[in-house]
Amino acid sequence: MAVNSKTLGILGGGQLGRMSAMAAERLGITTHIYCPEAGCPASLVAPHFTCAKYEDEQALKEFANAVDVISYEFENIPLKTIEFLQTLKPVYPDSKLLEVSQNRLKEKEFLNSIDIPTAPWAPCRKSDDIKVTLESWKTGQCIIKTARFGYDGKGQVFHRDSDNISDSWSSLNTEEAVIEGIIDFDFEVSIIIARDLQGQMAVYPPVKNEHKNHILDKTFYPAPLPENLQAEAAEMARKIADAVNLVGVLTLELFVTKDGALIANEIAPRTHNSGHWTIDACKVSQFENHVRCVTGLSVGDPAPHSAAEMHNLIGDDIERLETYEKMENAYIHLYGKTEARKGRKMGHVTILKE
Ligand SMILES: Nc1ncnc2c1ncn2[C@@H]1O[C@H](COP(=O)(O)OP(=O)(O)O)[C@@H](O)[C@H]1O
Ligand SMILES: [Mg+2]
Repeated sequence: MAVNSKTLGILGGGQLGRMSAMAAERLGITTHIYCPEAGCPASLVAPHFTCAKYEDEQALKEFANAVDVISYEFENIPLKTIEFLQTLKPVYPDSKLLEVSQNRLKEKEFLNSIDIPTAPWAPCRKSDDIKVTLESWKTGQCIIKTARFGYDGKGQVFHRDSDNISDSWSSLNTEEAVIEGIIDFDFEVSIIIARDLQGQMAVYPPVKNEHKNHILDKTFYPAPLPENLQAEAAEMARKIADAVNLVGVLTLELFVTKDGALIANEIAPRTHNSGHWTIDACKVSQFENHVRCVTGLSVGDPAPHSAAEMHNLIGDDIERLETYEKMENAYIHLYGKTEARKGRKMGHVTILKE
């Protein structure tokens, strides 16, 4: 491996940035975190930290001057910030992918444009759009999601037959949303792909995800998916990565229907909670591969060496730490957050299996 003495700037200071900074450190790559929150998880492990708003041009300029290449650890960084930084230093993944994954309407349009199936969907800008769409779909229920800024089930409403349409619409308090048909899925999987500057790709095997209160609770590798569907999921991930000229890591969330079809749910232009198991169970983790790809190193081997189960520690779950400490093959990761608020991701545990 070539020695890489680059400084990687990361926008966002959460646990994804933290684990990327830790992976970078192992490779001898310096990181510089940019985040408006003092004491954020990533700032506690990175050698350099700028605490400033994403709109602060002066601070952004100084940050860009101090680093060689820039990435981001969550998709709600203002597009303007990325476009401004792109004029100063390379930013990966580039703004096209960010723009698509920031807006569920653009995301679905993009996926369908490259023949990747999604749930039936329609744009929604007023309550009447829901009525018209449900009539044309001949159903009384759907999920309505705000086009932007949704995560962990926030910004969505499950509209049932008995619900009042205008109440469902106004509960979202938004101007733009997507109406989605409900997929009667068997289970959910995700697949993570890394692509380097030369266009070489590494695909992690798909994993099964279980959610609790709309937040990822557990991830299982291997997923109980037949080989043909594993190959299909990998093919979809490759197709997306090529179409957006990906540099870095991207995650695709999929529904597996009861009759064995894969339907794309959403894409994230970044490392993902469902890939945390790769730190302990794969030769090269999703975080290392992200750092490798954006800093110009070749993509590393994603092969798992163990089966694994990842458990998120959310809010009070942190009280279960002692149980995990006693478990053989349980590897604990904590994010340095001092207050265990409800719904807050405090850490995770990977349990390696045979
Ligand atoms: N069209 C759908 N049909 C059935 N379940 C869905 C649908 N869309 C979302 N869900 C459920 O809600 C969860 C969160 O939705 P998602 O679109 O992934 O938003 P988030 O950004 O909050 O992760 C999904 O993981 C799935 O369990
Ligand atoms: Mg999701």
